[in-house]
Amino acid sequence: MANPSLLILAGDGIGPEVMAEVKKIIGWMGARRGILFDVSEDLVGGCAYDAHGTPLTDATMAKAQAVDAVLLGAVGGPKYDKLDFSVKPERGLLRLRKEMDLFSNLRPAQCFDALADFSSLKKDVVSGLDIVIVRELTSGVYFGEPRGIFKEGNERVGINTQRYTESEIARVAKSAFELARKRNNKVCSMEKANVMESGILWREVVQEVHDRDYPDVELSHMYADAGAMQLCRWPKQFDVIVTDNLFGDLLSDMAAMLTGSLGMLPSASLGAPMASGRPKALYEPVHGSAPDIAGQGKANPIACILSFAMALRYSFDLGDEATRVERGGGKGAGRRLAHRRSDGSRRRHPGHHRPDGRRGSGGTGRQPLSAGSRGPDRLVTQM
Ligand code: IPM
Ligand code: MG
Repeated sequence: MANPSLLILAGDGIGPEVMAEVKKIIGWMGARRGILFDVSEDLVGGCAYDAHGTPLTDATMAKAQAVDAVLLGAVGGPKYDKLDFSVKPERGLLRLRKEMDLFSNLRPAQCFDALADFSSLKKDVVSGLDIVIVRELTSGVYFGEPRGIFKEGNERVGINTQRYTESEIARVAKSAFELARKRNNKVCSMEKANVMESGILWREVVQEVHDRDYPDVELSHMYADAGAMQLCRWPKQFDVIVTDNLFGDLLSDMAAMLTGSLGMLPSASLGAPMASGRPKALYEPVHGSAPDIAGQGKANPIACILSFAMALRYSFDLGDEATRVERGGGKGAGRRLAHRRSDGSRRRHPGHHRPDGRRGSGGTGRQPLSAGSRGPDRLVTQM
């Protein structure tokens, strides 16, 4: 039987350097555990624009549709800020999400013990935190029509449209309920039903799906602004949060920072099952391309490594291998980051850590899990 196939799209900024660490793990798994992947690589984002004048070529899109899973690093950078909207690096990522129909974006936020001190919240509020935001990823205001900048009289008007069909809401709700059943059986749905019709429909459909198929799961509803407040106040009240594309974008960045660093969070974007039975899938860290630290060997690859672990779990049914990789990531966070408190003072000097779980000789060369100099919230920054 052919090996499962992976397409690596490392992208821009710190994408290639964090992905380099994942490639080492893939190599290690083949050599040491006999788990082999057919890996191909291609361009997405600014680097694809530089090479081809488009952030995602049709050929790359076709490859992404054909493989078992896509691993993506990051897209974007200041170099591309002035480009026409239609060819901005982000459009490449959005095209992948839309054309692969990756409607369910799982963004887990777990607080590693070693990082609890780095959260901007009190340690007891975040330690042991383990929640997942399920973000709808293929619809809503990101894709709704009409959209554009139009002339109205003698001024311009910018228009975007929040649009959700019942079936779009129902399928992401179902994925959230399924996930909750494997966890603590609780879903909180967030929208703005107090001001948006799409929010009213969202709330109704989530409730209907629940009552029909998932009555055993505890369901609550919150307005997204109150949800943001509750995420800061007492995030451990949540298990699974399901929300739309835009609110999910905002709330997942916030949930990420609760854990001490945006640089720690992986994500899985899943669609319908393919002929193989595997879901269409793209895995990517939540952090952006962090152009300010790109190329300096400072970027923390944990989020990208944990995204690969999610691929092992959700695409390849290799849960034990995923746990092995995740444990390595957690230890890495501890060893590399625990030496600085949130006030910047030193606690202890950690050994150098390699993603294969062994300790390096220290001090020389580029360290894969380098903490940088100003605490973990400086490791990667959002684009
Ligand atoms: C994310 C990012 C993307 C988004 C950008 C890069 C288009 O912020 O994945 O959260 O807004 O979805
Ligand atoms: Mg975002």
